[in-house]
Amino acid sequence: MPELRFDGRVAVVTGAGAGLGREYALLFGARGAKVVVNDLGGSSTGEGSSKRAADVVVDEIVAKGGIACADYNSVVEGEKIIETAIKNFGRVDILVNNAGILRDKSVANISNEDWDLVHNVHLKGSFKTSQAAWPIFKKQKYGRIILTSSNSGVYGNFGQANYSAAKLGLVGLSNTLAIEGAKYNIHCNVIVPTAASRLTQGILPEFLFNELKPKLIAPVVVYLCHESNTDNGAIIESAAGFAAKLEIVRGRGTVLRKSIEQETITPEEVQEGWSKVTDMAHAKRIDAMTRASTSLMTVLEDLRENSKENFTAEDIFSF
Ligand code: NAI
Repeated sequence: MPELRFDGRVAVVTGAGAGLGREYALLFGARGAKVVVNDLGGSSTGEGSSKRAADVVVDEIVAKGGIACADYNSVVEGEKIIETAIKNFGRVDILVNNAGILRDKSVANISNEDWDLVHNVHLKGSFKTSQAAWPIFKKQKYGRIILTSSNSGVYGNFGQANYSAAKLGLVGLSNTLAIEGAKYNIHCNVIVPTAASRLTQGILPEFLFNELKPKLIAPVVVYLCHESNTDNGAIIESAAGFAAKLEIVRGRGTVLRKSIEQETITPEEVQEGWSKVTDMAHAKRIDAMTRASTSLMTVLEDLRENSKENFTAEDIFSF
């Protein structure tokens, strides 16, 4: 198999001074990309700053013969990070939004600051960098964006209401960026990693922690950013050398009205149909909002025709 190379490409990796981001930056550097190593260098809860984190990774890339520059801005000022790429390398092709912090508390104890800071770093930060890179990607008809979600967002996790909400918000952001970018060859995909880092130390059991090397996730992210990869709008879970695609699916559902003339439905009718509403046996991914709307229009048309007394949701999916 030919080596996947990134010669001539410029990759921005946020939060690349440690953990997962560092591994992404090192691998991009080793595969020929010019790398912007962004890191604010603060604590895991978002306090303070330091240039050291980014500088150390730049030195590592350069020592191995790669090309890299440091950026110390917070992702909340994402436009400055993209400016660093343009100033140093004249272009940007790949943006990996990876920077992150935690402010774990049970829901009753989350302060406004805990909520806002976590949302600002994860969600707003990813929006700011992506928005700043967007016109450049559009003009060159090429761009690869990664957003970083979490199992805490996808499945929920005790003590992480602020983080879970921001992390699943990134899936929503990616869904729309993928649609808006498709015709310009701008792809946006989500990574859901699990890895040993300062964020998971003391949380993951030790035997697992030692197996979850961030290095094993970097090739997945790097491949997703390669020009040969055609995925757009995908969610990829990865850990310990495992990777799998995740999807949000919808059950077949049922129509709770008997005909178009029936203008309201009662809670009792909902109760009666509930087992069909919640039946996930034949759940499917709806790959676009337009398809969801079309299936609803079909329901309405069928109701209007009133051709069937009580049609099943197979009808919805059968067109
Ligand atoms: P880490 O703490 O080792 O690395 C995160 C880096 O982001 C740090 O170097 C930090 O200085 C930097 N950073 C924080 N706030 C920043 C800001 N405002 N601007 C620029 N840089 C900033 O953590 P790790 O584990 O490598 O996490 C990377 C990403 O993966 C995060 O988004 C995290 O939420 C996500 N994630 C990690 C999981 C894991 O198992 N390690 C699980 C699920 C998601």
